[in-house]
Amino acid sequence: MLAANMGIDLGTTSVKIYLEGKGIVLREPSAVAYNEENRIVGIGQRAYDMLEKNPSGIRVVKPMLAGVVSDFTATKQLLQAFMSRVCKNMIFKPNVVVCVPSTVTGLERRTILDLTTAAGAAKACLIEEPLAAALGAGVGFEKPKGVMVIDIGGGTTDIAIVTMGAVSISESVKVAGNAFDEAIQRQLRRERDIVIGSKTAEYIKCKIGSAILRDVELGLTIKGKNYITDMPGTFEVNSTEVYLAMRPCLEQIVEGVRQVLEQTTPDLAGDIIDTGIYLTGGSAQLRSLDRMFLNKIGIKTRVAADPVNCVALGTGEALSDMDILSQNGYVFKSRMELDADDIKEN
Ligand SMILES: Nc1ncnc2c1ncn2[C@@H]1O[C@H](COP(=O)(O)OP(=O)(O)OP(=O)(O)O)[C@@H](O)[C@H]1O
Ligand SMILES: [Mg+2]
Repeated sequence: MLAANMGIDLGTTSVKIYLEGKGIVLREPSAVAYNEENRIVGIGQRAYDMLEKNPSGIRVVKPMLAGVVSDFTATKQLLQAFMSRVCKNMIFKPNVVVCVPSTVTGLERRTILDLTTAAGAAKACLIEEPLAAALGAGVGFEKPKGVMVIDIGGGTTDIAIVTMGAVSISESVKVAGNAFDEAIQRQLRRERDIVIGSKTAEYIKCKIGSAILRDVELGLTIKGKNYITDMPGTFEVNSTEVYLAMRPCLEQIVEGVRQVLEQTTPDLAGDIIDTGIYLTGGSAQLRSLDRMFLNKIGIKTRVAADPVNCVALGTGEALSDMDILSQNGYVFKSRMELDADDIKEN
């Protein structure tokens, strides 16, 4: 292959890569593992597997926190490793579209562009996550009506109103899947003296979690430790306590949605009543989330097909619509062009 353009969803939990002509070719946890000499011993799934198992001398870094780069070196290493895996048979460097939360600052945007070109992109272009999510959910640019997209990932919930290929209003709430897991861990320790790891909390959430109280309570047997005695044991948890643990987080997300709707013009609000809300991101798979939004906001809500991959699929759509996107200021730039822009601005 000579070259193919690429879309990257650089998520807090996982990185997804879309390759033009192929579709989604990579989905790996956002994690890098180092040994005592600071040498990489695992990237992606291998690093994630080491998390919490604490092999001696190994440090696992999650370079993206709440949707933004918190460790630049690790992010660059992660991007380099994944991009070279995907590009190994390419002769020329790819142009890359990268997704960022809609609320990132100018400095953060520039940092991500730099990291992407340093990791092997010929040129890079950033697009906002909710815009990509809308495209991935099948909302085309040509549609004149506004839609509301709520992308609930691991670190952030991005709420936005997208209309005619641009984000009109947006809000990013730092509460999403990871916060649900932490809330379950806290609740079990506080109320039941049970200590569990984050992977177990995530397992509980996916198995018996729900955004509204279940009619029929479910139970689940898990392994953990007793907080008082420090001894390992097997415990039974139920869906009601899991729901109660997550409820405050869900309320924060609903509050974010209300704030966006409050800022919406009456015409756009009218569009949204017709078009409804689209839920994307891995956490959109939480049971009954669509029903919760319908109950609390009163607007019909649907979960997009393939919610986890929706943003990455949207970068694929963006790659094929760059002509239209460029009219809204989304253009590929090389490192030299970015530096030239900086000189012009100063
Ligand atoms: N069946 C499920 N029920 C509830 N949550 C789920 C389910 N499957 C996955 N998740 C959650 O989805 C989250 C990951 O989603 P996603 O891959 O969209 O995040 P991300 O893009 O890496 O993060 P962000 O967009 O916040 O940077 C995790 O918190 C995971 O626990
Ligand atoms: Mg995401």
